[in-house]
Amino acid sequence: MRMLSRKISNFSTFLLVILALGFLLGCSEGPKLPQLVLPETDLAATALIPKPVQVVNGPDAFPLDRYTAIFTETERDAFTGVGEFLSGEIRKTQKITIPVNPDSGKDVFRGIYLRQTPGMEQEQYNLQISSDSILLRATTAEGAFRGVQTLRQLLPETSNDTLAEYPVWVIPGGSIQDKPAFEYRGSMLDVARHFFDIEDVKKYLDVMAYYKMNYLHLHLTDDQGWRIEITSWPKLTQIGGQTEVGGEAGGYYTQEDYKELVAFAGDRYITIVPEVDMPGHTNAASVSYPFLNGNGKTPKPYTGMRVGFSTLDTRKDTVYQFIEDVVREISALSPGPYFHIGGDESHATQKADYEYFIKRVVPIVRKYGKIPIGWDEVGTVSLDADVVAQIWQDKGNEVHAVEQGMKILMSPAKKAYLDMSYDSISKFGLHWAAYIPVDSAYTWSPETYSDKIPRAAILGVEAPLWSETISTIAELEYLAFPRLLGIAELGWTPSGERSWEDYKLRLIRQTPYFKRLDIQFYPSQRVPWMEADSLLPWYNNRTK
Ligand code: ACM
Repeated sequence: MRMLSRKISNFSTFLLVILALGFLLGCSEGPKLPQLVLPETDLAATALIPKPVQVVNGPDAFPLDRYTAIFTETERDAFTGVGEFLSGEIRKTQKITIPVNPDSGKDVFRGIYLRQTPGMEQEQYNLQISSDSILLRATTAEGAFRGVQTLRQLLPETSNDTLAEYPVWVIPGGSIQDKPAFEYRGSMLDVARHFFDIEDVKKYLDVMAYYKMNYLHLHLTDDQGWRIEITSWPKLTQIGGQTEVGGEAGGYYTQEDYKELVAFAGDRYITIVPEVDMPGHTNAASVSYPFLNGNGKTPKPYTGMRVGFSTLDTRKDTVYQFIEDVVREISALSPGPYFHIGGDESHATQKADYEYFIKRVVPIVRKYGKIPIGWDEVGTVSLDADVVAQIWQDKGNEVHAVEQGMKILMSPAKKAYLDMSYDSISKFGLHWAAYIPVDSAYTWSPETYSDKIPRAAILGVEAPLWSETISTIAELEYLAFPRLLGIAELGWTPSGERSWEDYKLRLIRQTPYFKRLDIQFYPSQRVPWMEADSLLPWYNNRTK
């Protein structure tokens, strides 16, 4: 107990009083600090994804048990929210309630302290794990949230029931220093080619958060469907939202749905990036409001998989009024800094019209307080440096973008497109860019993919998942997992620290998590899954 008192003397007076009260009560009435003899642990050998910057083993482990509580320094700040998130996840997985800032009457002998510490970067955190405390330090609640994901990954799913007459979950002891290599680590869901409802997207967000990703780009509009309610243009969803690839009924997010997604993502420190793809990929918009395409015809709904046949009329002022309404309504619902304007594959738009269009749309996005992102074709238009170019092809557009001082988001289709099939016998996906086996998705570097893109220009990495060939969450998961985890590590872990041989062994140890969430991942032959032999019956059952 003296050791515990010494530790807490470093904390705020408030905490000291609370804990001293708990200590006194514990001495007078409650049980004594349970003396547990813990097994030796090896923090450095744990299967963390993404791999932290530095992990150092310590002499003793932390026993999470019924005498553990989470403490934050103030009662109602964002750090407390992060503590409550951790408590909620532990309740779901370990099936034990670890209170946050409990009343002093509780028997609490061990604390997980979320402590705000100045001077660290936005998402940086440190963890110190010893037998009587876990100290998680960060400057921002976002940093604490990233650290909480590390703790969740360190917590064994099953308790050790031989140490005491109650369950104990042993967390390996030591310290971790960690921060991301890139500020943008994202994925994109194409909810336009096939619609995915908010429960599907929430599940995806949960997994992204677990692997410390921080941006979800939603491709909300395309030729086959318009998926976000715009109150000033209701036919977009009443008509344009009713179709999808293959001809099934589509669907759309009401503004309330979208707000719910934004809030759910925000609780996980993930920012939603909305995309309205234009001037091409706009058949669904023109089906809803035929004046938009300027060719005097009402197009038919499109449910095939071709690209490059639609365009907005770039020379009509009412088209820009339409775009302004759309940008205004979506921006008002989107707290994040970015608005994606698409701009890809506008093969039906004359080059001069394309340039004119992009130059008119970029200021509209700025007017509503957002930073414009476009696919790499926007790099060919002369624009100010605040535009972000998302590189997906190897056509040299990145050279123009870099010359203009634009930030670059790395999504090379040959490596980062989650809709590319794993191999020639994959059940889903396309292969126009490449087959992308699990190792190929991991063994490249955003930093060195193109010698035309300097490291300083790179904002981060994003893995897009186009949905032409998938229509259910299980199919989505087959393509996304496990490759998304590799992209998460490329965005977080410095390139010198990454190795496929090491990564694949950490990857197989994610299977309990996949199983718990019923994630229908693709059990690639390039990963020695069988070493997780206790899970073999589950694999065999689920891949039938
Ligand atoms: C794209 O794949 N058309 C950005």
